[in-house]
Amino acid sequence: MSTALRAVRGMNDILPAQTPLWQHFEAIVRKWLAAYGYREIRTPILEHTGLFQRAIGEVTDIVEKEMYTFIDELNGESLTLRPEGTASGVRAVIEHNLLFDGGKRLWYMGPMFRHERPQKGRYRQFHQVGVEALGYAGPDLDIEHLLMTARLWRMLGIAEHIRLEINTLGGAESRARHRQKLIAYFEARQEALDEDARRRLYSNPLRILDTKNPAMQALVAAAPRLMDELDDAALQHFDALRQGLEEAGIAYRINPRLVRGLDYYNYTVFEWVTDRLGAQGTVCAGGRYDGLVEQLGGRPAPACGFALGIERVLALLTDAGQRYEEPAPDAYIVHVGEAAARFARLVGERLRDAGLKVVSHGGGGSFKAQMKKADASLARYAILLGEDEAAAGEVSLKPLRAAGEQQRLGLDTAVDVLKTLAR
Ligand code: HAM
Repeated sequence: MSTALRAVRGMNDILPAQTPLWQHFEAIVRKWLAAYGYREIRTPILEHTGLFQRAIGEVTDIVEKEMYTFIDELNGESLTLRPEGTASGVRAVIEHNLLFDGGKRLWYMGPMFRHERPQKGRYRQFHQVGVEALGYAGPDLDIEHLLMTARLWRMLGIAEHIRLEINTLGGAESRARHRQKLIAYFEARQEALDEDARRRLYSNPLRILDTKNPAMQALVAAAPRLMDELDDAALQHFDALRQGLEEAGIAYRINPRLVRGLDYYNYTVFEWVTDRLGAQGTVCAGGRYDGLVEQLGGRPAPACGFALGIERVLALLTDAGQRYEEPAPDAYIVHVGEAAARFARLVGERLRDAGLKVVSHGGGGSFKAQMKKADASLARYAILLGEDEAAAGEVSLKPLRAAGEQQRLGLDTAVDVLKTLAR
């Protein structure tokens, strides 16, 4: 017996019943991004593994254990399915020298891949909309990104379910100072650290603050705070950000423990979170990454950006009771007999030339069986074609959603009638 093939675990088919919601979302997103002057960039979903190692950081969860990495056996190169879009975007910007004439506002949308343990809201292939503004020192662009995201939630009707958390990570020097203090603090309390924390103690002590382990919460809460190490420039940047948010009426909470799972951030970091999706409550996240362009070999350029998880946003839409159906066809063509089948093709094309959405019955069957399908299609009209109509070059038009008699009309008249009615 053959075993039925299944999709790879954590990678989902998006079925025709779900795609109208995705398309609705994508249409809103395109309008939203255009309204702010962002331009789309499309990069390959495969990159050299080194790009992500350098950009995201060797001792992050993503690089340590979540990347789909393989050797291209044809030439021995190590390749990785992109786990996020910022690294690829920066690579492309450097490679094509896009910053030669000033800052760029870019966006992308598409699948990302992380080998995480699948659960509700967390998948191994998931989709992001990402936004990157390169070449701007901010904080005006940081503020723009938060205004933008707040607007998107309003456009989608989910603003009341999402709240904003912000933090600042300061510059490289304050982070280095904080890092030393953190290491000293945790070193002195080694016995209270779990295995993960011990492993990270010297490689990435900041991530210890992100622990979900209840036994470590008190320890982490009393740890040295980065806020106390921030220099004036970082504080000014953060103050300006806060002021911008207040002027725009965007509520936020400062979360000093927000550190993010990717190493490239400095200054602003933020997350939009919800309580409605269980454990996977971060819907959108990002921040500033002023060092990344240089770190990946470009001329130094400040930058900031964010990405939202499409599955999570759509789960919120669905949770808020929003439903999207494919719009019903204007007409469904029922045809019995060979001459009628030939005529049906002609009628269908004529109607489509006129901009109408027309489904022509497929697979034969009796008049009655086809009428059932016509009805189930939710089309507004059935167009009935038999040998008679085919011979006369006429169609019988029958309303399916409203009262009204079946009418026999010439093809040109039928096209006109349907065009008017479909408006
Ligand atoms: P991230 O926080 O890793 O940031 O991912 C952004 C968002 O993608 C998350 O908040 C979440 O909504 C969604 N997401 C992440 N992993 C999964 C998953 N396994 N399943 C479903 N959704 C997921 C970044 O990727 C950065 N590149 C964001 C950024 C852009 N920062 C600056 N520019």
